[in-house]
Parts: sequence; C-alpha cells; structure tokens
Amino acid sequence: MAERMSLKVDGKVHAIEADPAKPLLYVLRDECGLNNPRFGCGLAQCGACTVQVDGKAIRSCVTPASSVQGMEITTIAGLGTPANPHPLQQAYLDQQVPQCGMCTNGFLMTGAALLKEIPRPDPHQIRGALSGLKCRCGTHLSIIRAILQASGQKAEWEGHGEGEEA
Ligand code: FES
Ligand code: FES
Repeated sequence: MAERMSLKVDGKVHAIEADPAKPLLYVLRDECGLNNPRFGCGLAQCGACTVQVDGKAIRSCVTPASSVQGMEITTIAGLGTPANPHPLQQAYLDQQVPQCGMCTNGFLMTGAALLKEIPRPDPHQIRGALSGLKCRCGTHLSIIRAILQASGQKAEWEGHGEGEEA
C-alpha cells in the first residue's frame, strides 16, 4: 500500500506517495521525474542505477525508497553542472570516455564516491571500487585514466597486462 514519503534528492525535498518497498530507482524516475539513474539489469549486477546516499554509491534498483528517507540522495544531476562540472565529469570529457553512455551514470557516481573516500586512489584501488560495474563498450581503461586525472594524477595508465580490464 502506498505511503507518504519524503526524499531529499540533489538538495531538493520530494514529497511523494509510493509503496515503501518500491525500489528507489523507480521512485526517482516515476515519482520524482529524475531520469539520470538508468535501469540496466534491475538485479544489482550492472551499476547503471547507481546514486549516492550520504556520499556512498549504492544500487538504487535494489534499495527500497523508504530506507533512505532523511538521507542525502545525490544523482548525477547533483554532481555538477555543464557550467561547473565535477572534476570527474570534466575528466570524462577530456579522456573521451563515453561510447554509448549506458554505463556513464554508474561509473561517474561510483568514481566520484571513491574520490571522496580516497582523494588520490591508485589504479588497484580504482579497479576495486569499479568492480561489478559493467561497460559493454569496453571503456574501462579510459575510465581509470579519467579517475586518475580527476584526482590530480597522471592519466597515463595502460593496464598491467594484455586484455586486462577494470
Ligand atoms: S540496474 Fe541496478 S545494478 Fe543494474
Ligand atoms: S559506454 Fe557503452 S556501456 Fe559503457
């Protein structure tokens, strides 16, 4: 049964009515009209739906909306703007990361959360943070380079072995 809920997303409070078990992803898209978190698998296996909750990257497709009431929810729209992009958004452009763009939300939100926790992560830490995120276009190396750039390091990593992925 639908219940009243209040969600704070990108600094704005949304008063909505929804089933408390409804996944946050659906509530963000359907009730709040925020379409940046993507539906990929719906099973916590691709990361396309990632948002930050109190600064941590979470999979919104398997997170009940009611469980994040009173917390700070951030979508990619709250990360930066075209005029004032987050350093990782700028690095994404500089490194020409996106191909189809389906995975971009998940990698950006997860990468930005990593940079908050570890301001200068090494490639091993970056790969650990990104494990479980899927990019079917194979942009993994350029994503790692973008995160290195956004953290003020040389964006020259080529991987440690042939065929190695993030
Ligand atoms: S849609 Fe949530 S992890 Fe794939
Ligand atoms: S850019 Fe296409 S899935 Fe990653």
